Amino acid sequence: MTTTLITGISSLVTNDEAQGSGPLGLLAEAAVVLDGDRIAWVGPASRAPAADTAHDAGGRAALPGFVDSHAHLVFAGDRTAEFNARMSGQPYRAGGIRTTVAATRAATDAALDANVARLVREALLQGTTVLECKSGYGLTVEDEARALRIAARHTPETTYLGAHVVAPEYADDPAGYVDLVTGPMLDACAPHARWVDAFCERGAFDADQARAVLTAGAARGLTPRLHANQLGHGPGVRLAVELGAASADHCTHLDDADVAALASSATVATLLPGAEFSTRAAYPDARRLLDAGATVALSTDCNPGSSFTTSMPFCIAVAVREMGMTPDEAVHAATAGGARALRRTDVGRIAPGARADLVLLDAPSHVHLAYRPGVPLVSAVWRGGVREV
Ligand code: NIG
Ligand code: FE
Repeated sequence: MTTTLITGISSLVTNDEAQGSGPLGLLAEAAVVLDGDRIAWVGPASRAPAADTAHDAGGRAALPGFVDSHAHLVFAGDRTAEFNARMSGQPYRAGGIRTTVAATRAATDAALDANVARLVREALLQGTTVLECKSGYGLTVEDEARALRIAARHTPETTYLGAHVVAPEYADDPAGYVDLVTGPMLDACAPHARWVDAFCERGAFDADQARAVLTAGAARGLTPRLHANQLGHGPGVRLAVELGAASADHCTHLDDADVAALASSATVATLLPGAEFSTRAAYPDARRLLDAGATVALSTDCNPGSSFTTSMPFCIAVAVREMGMTPDEAVHAATAGGARALRRTDVGRIAPGARADLVLLDAPSHVHLAYRPGVPLVSAVWRGGVREV
């Protein structure tokens, strides 16, 4: 196995308080040794051991690769017209999902695979080294299983979202659709998925339906996560906590009981500012969640309808400007927070034994991710020890 010594790191986010200062475990003038796909050593550059090859970071800042724990990448088609209409004052309607369902069903496997590959690469160029990917634009047994088979070629973090909206064929029989999602569709999808998700929202699935979907998925070995409280206040967050879901996603409309439930549970509050940006809606209040003691993750929600971005730096900048987060909190949420939301301990931190996922920024510190919004600061990315960018 080849070892690589990265020196000249002006400021390193380790997300490990034992290794550096504050919750980010910041180390100044640091070095990191990669050994195969793992991190072998982290510490002050002055004490760095020898390695087979060396890379001089040239005074750049370094941080763990971003962990994007919420994305919908298996789709075809384009919803520019819908976005344009919203920016002219129309409201967001989750029913637009059906537009993408029609295009996705009509697409070839190769076209869907190429779209996922393109978006994973786009994310990687912006520092994302772990990406979750949901189904949810097929809504038939075959199309959902196909979406998950394709997603699994690109990431182990695959999520069965047959309960995205009621399939058009079942418009008059939502109960029948839930039976399909918890029965034959689950049978076909479970072998390709790690997680089960549902869109618990008015116009999609109510609490009883979402509970049925997540419970059936859990019985097949899938761990629940839930789209909750995005478009209005509802029962989703409390259901996610009740079921021990890994994460409740969106969390835009919360009451005090929701915040308290999240704060006293292991369920991560995953915030998706790209969705509020692209639907011109009010942002979730990250400050309130953090002050209450909840664990917060930031993710892109990349999808063609409500948030067509793969950029974690963009989400960090918006979270800092609009959601009451400090730059440190936003960077932590986009790395360690995402890892928590995916129940991963091998990513989201720079420490011996962790996976060698490391990003260098053309900047002296991680704060520049928010301080210099919209600027492509990612200058190098290692994923699993391989230099990808
Ligand atoms: O997370 N909320 C539901 N699903 C997506 C939107 C999907 C779409 O509009 O195509 C979301 O925002
Ligand atoms: Fe989503």
